[in-house]
Amino acid sequence: MKNVLVTGAAGFIGSNLCKALCLQGYQVLGMDNLATGFESNLSELRGISNFKFVNADIRDLNSCKEVVADQHIVFHQAALGSVPRSVADPVTTNEVNVSGFLNLLKSCADNDVDRFIYAASSSTYGDSPSLPKVESVIGKPLSPYAITKYVNELYADVFHKTYGIDTIGLRYFNVFGPYQDPGGAYAAVIPAFVKAFMNLEPVYINGDGTYSRDFTFVDNVVQANIRAMEAKNPQSLNQVYNVAFGQRTTILELAEAIKTRLIVKDARIADVPILHRKARAGDVPHSLASIEKARSLLNYDPKFDILQGLDRSIQWYWENL
Ligand SMILES: NC(=O)c1ccc[n+]([C@@H]2O[C@H](COP(=O)([O-])OP(=O)(O)OC[C@H]3O[C@@H](n4cnc5c(N)ncnc54)[C@H](O)[C@@H]3O)[C@@H](O)[C@H]2O)c1
Repeated sequence: MKNVLVTGAAGFIGSNLCKALCLQGYQVLGMDNLATGFESNLSELRGISNFKFVNADIRDLNSCKEVVADQHIVFHQAALGSVPRSVADPVTTNEVNVSGFLNLLKSCADNDVDRFIYAASSSTYGDSPSLPKVESVIGKPLSPYAITKYVNELYADVFHKTYGIDTIGLRYFNVFGPYQDPGGAYAAVIPAFVKAFMNLEPVYINGDGTYSRDFTFVDNVVQANIRAMEAKNPQSLNQVYNVAFGQRTTILELAEAIKTRLIVKDARIADVPILHRKARAGDVPHSLASIEKARSLLNYDPKFDILQGLDRSIQWYWENL
């Protein structure tokens, strides 16, 4: 039986990952300082014998050393997400996403952790115009957040070369699904739209709605993490991979798809307007991943397209908001 650590365990992706790992019988330790996560995201795991939670901060090196002791695999999800948050407060974003990352990675290297699997980001593609995105072609970062995520990749690579620790970076593309926080100024687009429709408030699209994204249901992301843990081929290690579905959807199509699904539940939502406002500075027009590398080296095989993911997510928000 393997001991695994999930940082950011009370967050959106971390909590989904903890549940999947517990179901598969791993001994899971979740770590989170509850900066943007919620203990309630883990309530299903309360009292389960193969799950433990510790409230601790990755900015504290001693805490990192303590949580990695006896771990075989570390899934590092803790970070401050959101491009606008990083523009508003680049210093704290850097402390958590870079210094915190380094604390954890160094602790893993010192404790002979077998594999360090970490959440990288599609934001690393920055201003590169090429589509679909392939792992080897990146542009210049467009935000402090993107810098932190790129620095993570650089550290992982150097740590493998200098300390011998095996790492895998997963560049997530616009992840969505149950437990993604719809609250606050930095909510992601899908929960923000769902919440506005459910509250019968106008839905605002930044720009004309033709921008597109490769929206990725969280179960696909969980699968990618588990495949990264299981990968045996040495060539699959010390690499970064796109984790996406490999299809793009415009923001207008997204808003319409959410509205259609919610009208069935509340007919009044038909009258909620979809309005446009100024495009956000720094937003790339289009994002679409090539997932061939993850398919061939990690055996990644995403099962949920955006519409299947929306069906599940909207049902969850309907029952839980
Ligand atoms: N959601 C996406 O679309 C997306 C896309 C690309 C990359 N990512 C990355 O995936 C990871 C998980 O993101 P998410 O969407 O689940 O976000 P989230 O905010 O729901 O989860 C992040 C978790 O990290 C915790 N955390 C923050 N600072 C911490 C600290 N100092 N010490 C310990 N824990 C801390 C938060 O409390 C939260 O529970 C992040 O690394 C994020 O950058 C997410």
